[in-house]
Amino acid sequence: MKSKPNGKVKKLRLLLEFSKRIVAEKTSDGLLALLAEEAKSLLAADRCTIFILDKNKKILWSKVAQGSPSMIAFPWDKGIAGEAARTGKTLNIKNARKDSRFNPQVDRDTGYRTKSILTTPMKNLREEVQGVFQVLNKTNGKSFNKEDEELLAILARQAGAAVENVQLYEQVLEAAQDTIFRLAAAAEYKDKDTGEHILRMSRYTALIAEEMGFPPRFCENLRIASSMHDIGKLGVPDAILGKPASLNETEWVEMRKHTLYGAEILKDSTNELIKMSHKIALSHHEKFDGSGYPSGLKGEAIPIEGRITALADVFDALTSKRAYKEKFSMKETLRIIRDGVGKHFDPKVGEAFERVLPKMVEILHKHSDPAPAER
Ligand code: C2E
Ligand code: SIN
Ligand code: SIN
Ligand code: FE
Repeated sequence: MKSKPNGKVKKLRLLLEFSKRIVAEKTSDGLLALLAEEAKSLLAADRCTIFILDKNKKILWSKVAQGSPSMIAFPWDKGIAGEAARTGKTLNIKNARKDSRFNPQVDRDTGYRTKSILTTPMKNLREEVQGVFQVLNKTNGKSFNKEDEELLAILARQAGAAVENVQLYEQVLEAAQDTIFRLAAAAEYKDKDTGEHILRMSRYTALIAEEMGFPPRFCENLRIASSMHDIGKLGVPDAILGKPASLNETEWVEMRKHTLYGAEILKDSTNELIKMSHKIALSHHEKFDGSGYPSGLKGEAIPIEGRITALADVFDALTSKRAYKEKFSMKETLRIIRDGVGKHFDPKVGEAFERVLPKMVEILHKHSDPAPAER
């Protein structure tokens, strides 16, 4: 017997090699990219596309689209991919262009020429369709066969589980964010507060951090964590918080404690996000020149998250009406902030602020508090 490996053996080897890489892959996005690559090699296809089904919007959008620089999206009642998503059936088509279900728009958009298509639905463990796995153009000029169908079904099964994981993770994250925003809103003493203030604050801090070149994960954490900067105001008497005039010395002593109360609420967590909120609650009123509270920290001894939130907080306070003050004009706001650079604010944060100012103003207008008459 000859020992030359036949096609089956080669395929099994490939499958095994990919399995090793798949086990080592930690992110779901990476996993899907890998599965697409695997499908392309194993089935000798020219391209593989993975579409995710958005059941609410009834669209398919490409999560992985080999050879296509931009995302592909189309309604689920269109195309061969749409048919597979709606019926849950595998479709093996020799010449797509002669098939009435084919959606030629995708080729027009991507400049590709589709010939053979094998499309299989991606299902989760409850047999619900999550999306579609599609390989295009068998490279030997033939069309996809029964074995290809079986292989793609296996890969689609793995992909389905991966997509479900992403969605579960995103749901958990969303729920956590929602809880945090609600908690932060509850901490606001004004019952008429719309939560817009919190939304603005978190957008401002993330924007500045991005401009300063911090990595996406840091910016995203800061976005959420900064929404809790004033959570310690829960511990300050309403009479002080809502006083429509300047505070006297005893009231100020109380007011400044909101940083300590916030730190108390958020301390001792092992969660990355809550740890960051703890830092921010404690340090957002420290000043760069050391004249802030509660600790009089100076310069880079103040956590960067606190330095960024400090500027965003003042920008928001100045451009909003408070119980004790009216809104300032943009001109006056900028004068106060610019005057504070190097004294109140970190100059690096100040520089980034200047660069993102147009976007800050856009956020301010988009999320401004409703006019008093509407309240
Ligand atoms: P807040 O109203 O959110 O203000 C946050 C920060 O924005 C202030 O921190 C301050 O740095 C800046 N800021 C706010 N309004 C003005 C202003 O009219 N001029 C200037 N130059 N900066 C302003 P700060 O001062 O440590 O205050 C912390 C919190 O204490 C404030 O949060 C607010 O809740 C309360 N607060 C401050 N001043 C008064 C006041 O006169 N009356 C009352 N009832 N509360 C006050
Ligand atoms: C289709 O599913 O009808 C077209 C999809 C594609 O060409 O990628
Ligand atoms: C705050 O900054 O949390 C209080 C909101 C307000 O003063 O209107
Ligand atoms: Fe504060």
